[in-house]
Amino acid sequence: MPDSSSPIYLDNAATSFPKPPEVVETMHRLIREISLSPGRSAHRFSLAASRVIFEARELIADFFGCPDSSRVVFTSNVTEALNVGIFGLLEPGDQVLTTGMEHNSVMRPLRHLEKTRGLRLEILPTSSTGAIDPDDIPKRLSGKTRLIIINHVSNVTGAVADLAAIGARKGGALLMVDAAQSAGVFPLEMGAMRIDFLAFTGHKGLFGPTGTGGFLLREGIMAPPLKMGGTGSNSEQEEQPQLMPDCYESGTPNTLGIGGLAAGLEFIRTTGRETIRRHEEHLTRLLLDGLSQIQGVTVHGPPASGSRGSAVSLTMAGRSVADLAFLLDRRFGIMARAGLHCTPAAHRSITTFPQGALRLSPGFFNTEAEIQAVLAALDQISAGS
Ligand SMILES: Cc1ncc(COP(=O)(O)O)c(C=O)c1O
Repeated sequence: MPDSSSPIYLDNAATSFPKPPEVVETMHRLIREISLSPGRSAHRFSLAASRVIFEARELIADFFGCPDSSRVVFTSNVTEALNVGIFGLLEPGDQVLTTGMEHNSVMRPLRHLEKTRGLRLEILPTSSTGAIDPDDIPKRLSGKTRLIIINHVSNVTGAVADLAAIGARKGGALLMVDAAQSAGVFPLEMGAMRIDFLAFTGHKGLFGPTGTGGFLLREGIMAPPLKMGGTGSNSEQEEQPQLMPDCYESGTPNTLGIGGLAAGLEFIRTTGRETIRRHEEHLTRLLLDGLSQIQGVTVHGPPASGSRGSAVSLTMAGRSVADLAFLLDRRFGIMARAGLHCTPAAHRSITTFPQGALRLSPGFFNTEAEIQAVLAALDQISAGS
């Protein structure tokens, strides 16, 4: 049994850990070898920094099937990316169709606009495991539906939304996808899935550092930026440039983080996204099979068979989830996350609100032995020993 001197990290849905050595080495090299201010000067360091960002943009565009890398915009995380899209694309009186599985990074801006711009919110029904039925979409669309916002893979239950089916049913609305939990693990193709706005975070399945993320905006769509300022381009103008992606990227960018994110993408490319997904699926299945044998444990999410993300939420009869997380950490050195996971809507959908659930989220660097250790620990807690 591991103790806190050999901790087990099972909170990859919050952020992936550890990062691949390539990411650490790249960031170490960049901060040691070049000044990181790109696009501002013509000296060699600035040009080298511009190249780091350009190459990362190309990798992201290629990774998500976007033909033009200038449509890739870097932000500090997916929350900022979603905010740009939500505040920029919606007009007073618009209707938005979304689901009962959305993170607060979607729900809070939407609730704000509901109050301040008379936005009309339509929430798709969700099953007890967090699944939505794409066939419900056409019935809920109206001429005023501007945006459909979908969480691709739930950070609470692991339920996967069928984006291709949703894209085929979006009518005249734009499709915005929150790919926080899926990018790097699940297939995401902007064109084939008819995605108009794809928002990603860099520090989860893409193995980049915190402080990275962004969005891809389909050709032909523009939204006003959330921030304005120096871009290093069109400096003679006091108006914000319209040029993509500069119009959204005011201020010195996070070159170090973006370089680390590019190294994360290279790691995925050399390892194989499918290899990563298969390993995570294998560990998740092992976890779910083991949990089904433990007295008093209820898993709130899709079964082990079929496609699902690695977030596994559970409750245990007679124990608060906060207690469970505390015991796992202090007695067994196992890091998990209890509560509402910034997603109260999902916990309402799966009836675990307001207590929430204990979430275990295996990642690529976890092992079978670690899953066995968490199962043994939960079994011991359930037996009261
Ligand atoms: C589905 C989902 N959306 C949005 C976010 C917000 O991510 P970030 O904090 O990187 O902006 C998360 C992070 O937990 C998430 O799981």
